[in-house]
Amino acid sequence: MAQFVQSCLGVSGSGHLTIGGVDVMDIAAGYGTPCYVMDEAVIRSRMRLYDKAFADFSPNGGGALFASKACCFKAMYRIAAEEGLFGADAVSPGELWTAKAAGFPMERIYFHGNNKTDADLRLALDLGVGTIVADSREELGALSAAAGEYRKKQHILLRITPGVDPHTHKKIITGSVDSKFGSPISTGAALDIVEYALSLPNIVLDGFHCHIGSQIFDASPFIDAADIMVRFIADVKEKTGYEASKLDLGGGFGVRYTSDDPEFDYRGGVRSLCDAVRERCSELGVAAPVLMLEPGRSIVADAGITLYTVGSVKEIPGFRTYVSIDGGMPDNPRYALYQSVYEIFKADDPLGEKTACVTLGGRCCESGDLIGENMPIQPVKRGDIIAVAVTGAYNYSMASNYNRIPRPPVVMVSGGKTYEAVRRESCDDLIRLDV
Ligand code: LLP
Repeated sequence: MAQFVQSCLGVSGSGHLTIGGVDVMDIAAGYGTPCYVMDEAVIRSRMRLYDKAFADFSPNGGGALFASKACCFKAMYRIAAEEGLFGADAVSPGELWTAKAAGFPMERIYFHGNNKTDADLRLALDLGVGTIVADSREELGALSAAAGEYRKKQHILLRITPGVDPHTHKKIITGSVDSKFGSPISTGAALDIVEYALSLPNIVLDGFHCHIGSQIFDASPFIDAADIMVRFIADVKEKTGYEASKLDLGGGFGVRYTSDDPEFDYRGGVRSLCDAVRERCSELGVAAPVLMLEPGRSIVADAGITLYTVGSVKEIPGFRTYVSIDGGMPDNPRYALYQSVYEIFKADDPLGEKTACVTLGGRCCESGDLIGENMPIQPVKRGDIIAVAVTGAYNYSMASNYNRIPRPPVVMVSGGKTYEAVRRESCDDLIRLDV
């Protein structure tokens, strides 16, 4: 439907918004609000699209590692495992634990993080994590020592900073030289850390990783990064004799949040990257590596919406109209953090004319607790359900209990039916750790 940027949204015979063919008014009535709702079919088809694109275009195989940080709970790993996804990127003990609990094959996990503690490294060794993406010399030393105690040779990638600025939101740029992540090529630190990794007894260096940023709509910075990384592979080969067999180019493909955002052709993006790597490798005389990307947002964002109930509508003449809902910054901090723009709908009349323009406020004791400002919507009143579109990525995973507000459930839609992937938090859940 042209009215919605999300392909999973539609309108029922009674004019209500649907997701995956299910009436969202029924979901709101059945599960309550606030409530995250996700369409499994979108997640599955995006995972397939990525792995198929790698199968079709990569000169030497590879695939997608789902970036868990975008949306992490057990059902996500079960879906990824069922789809046979190439792997998953995890960044914390909690993400590792969730993957393990869901039965995800731990040898297909890539464990990230710029400051893994000794306890994190031991947990990864205990759980049999396939690959650790090492970030610093300190981490390498600690990992080699710990792996020795486990009598293991741990496979790793090294996080390298290619120095590409993708011109996106400053807070989510990670690949430029001034970064807490990785080792920059331009300063010589990257080559040094490769030599150090190669000198360690209990580490097997498989290759390199980089991540240039997030919500990027242009394939060219990715191609620049790929180009720089292949040149680095060639340089390392020349200087040390070591030839990397894997190259992981991180996440970051953009997602349409509103109709003003451009479309990104994910299959085309993978193809351009694969082509660039193939060409550069043959030009520089290095073997084409197994190629990986770590898409998070582009797998889950447009699978999800969030449903809220309107509590009050407050018009301040000459200023604005505040619509207060039963959720807000704790379940979606992205407006407060990044001024992210969302489209919203009155759930039982999504095609009605949007004659109102509102500021959607949450219920925290904080005036910055907003989902958005200047948001066009159909006229609403207390008790109406509002759907916020494209909230499948970095909403549930960034949710907090600020103001001691319980987090919403995640309801999955699959084959015209719904199930709870994460149940609603209760006030008892909130006090369970208090002593
Ligand atoms: N790999 C690494 C190493 C990353 O740091 C990230 C995201 C990804 C993959 C996945 O990137 P994606 O495909 O989702 O763009 N909280 C922010 C996004 C932070 C992204 C951090 N790293 C937001 O809500 O927009």
